Amino acid sequence: MRSSFVFFLYLLRGACSGSDGDPESLNLCIHIAVSRGFNLPEFLQRTTLNDVTIFYHDSTMASKMPCPDWLNSIAGQWHWKHIQNWADRNRRVITQGFTSAVQQFNRTGLLADSNIYEGWGCCTLFPNGTYRSWLTHKFNGKDFISLDLNKRVFVAAVSEAVLYKNQRCRDERDMDDITDYYRKVIIDRLNIFKNAPSVRIRKVPEVRIFEKQKAGSITVTCHVTGFYPRAVQVDWLGPDLHPVDGGVTDVLPNEDGTYQTRRSVTVPEEDVGKHTYSCVVLHSSVEHNITTVWVVEKRSRFAVWMSLACICLLIIGFGFWSCCRSNDLRNQK
Ligand SMILES: *[C@@H]1O[C@H](CO)[C@@H](O)[C@H](O)[C@H]1NC(C)=O
Ligand SMILES: *[C@@H]1O[C@H](CO)[C@@H](O)[C@H](O)[C@H]1NC(C)=O
Ligand SMILES: *[C@@H]1O[C@H](CO)[C@@H](O)[C@H](O)[C@H]1NC(C)=O
Repeated sequence: MRSSFVFFLYLLRGACSGSDGDPESLNLCIHIAVSRGFNLPEFLQRTTLNDVTIFYHDSTMASKMPCPDWLNSIAGQWHWKHIQNWADRNRRVITQGFTSAVQQFNRTGLLADSNIYEGWGCCTLFPNGTYRSWLTHKFNGKDFISLDLNKRVFVAAVSEAVLYKNQRCRDERDMDDITDYYRKVIIDRLNIFKNAPSVRIRKVPEVRIFEKQKAGSITVTCHVTGFYPRAVQVDWLGPDLHPVDGGVTDVLPNEDGTYQTRRSVTVPEEDVGKHTYSCVVLHSSVEHNITTVWVVEKRSRFAVWMSLACICLLIIGFGFWSCCRSNDLRNQK
């Protein structure tokens, strides 16, 4: 149960973080899912602030999460109440979407037990003070409908979604609520929630370097993890460094709300030992930078050879012993 749940959340988070190109931006996202056959609760909702969960509710829970202490203003408490109430509303509209999609795609009978309908909506506050809100629904991982905020309509991504789209658009009160939510409520909420302790916390990155030998060159990777907030800069310093294809990796969320990333470069084998190579990490949790020098682990290579040699000796020794033993047995007969 746990592993599929974690996998599912990873998908959700990946999809959400991927939408936000600017690492300095602030994100408030809602993930909702109705599913059958995924070892998940029938319904679940998660609200995250920069990938840290601040509200979670699912169909196995009798009550909703109470208002946290840091939301001590009247407006803050109003928003929390709104989140709690909308969990029920979200369950209703997303279940309608699920039912409609299952029927339109004929995912009934034997297929009824492997369907998942997800909705995610986000609001991003960029460093230049502008906002962007969006809402998308997916059925079994593919786009189903999305909200066009300017035109105040839902747009169907596939013909199977037209029925549900029309159903949503016809409900004028629902359209008013949802456009008001993504134009105004979520922006006000972001401005209040940005003072949450989880956003102000800073976590220092851990830096680890590892190497991989290939023909004629060595690929060194600087792995940086456990940091918060998301914005980070990782560079390699040294002569004759070549970035590896795809060596610049996105910043990815960890399970605990921190982030990780890595940078890989190749060093020509003949340069190894001649120059100093270091990985420099700049992050808001440290005043200057974290510089980690790559030390070629000659001694560890020696250790590897030694242990290989020991294993060989053991195998030879064992072969010798069993050989002698069978000779002994033969001699005894
Ligand atoms: C679903 O089934 C109906 C009737 O059996 C059929 O007309 C329709 O084309 C099917 N749709 C899909 C997407 O397979
Ligand atoms: C603000 O920043 C975002 C993201 O970097 C960008 O897409 C947008 O165009 C900017 N808006 C203005 C008015 O500069
Ligand atoms: C890193 O910090 C050290 C000392 O704080 C400084 O001398 C060095 O120039 C910095 N390196 C980079 C790449 O910023």
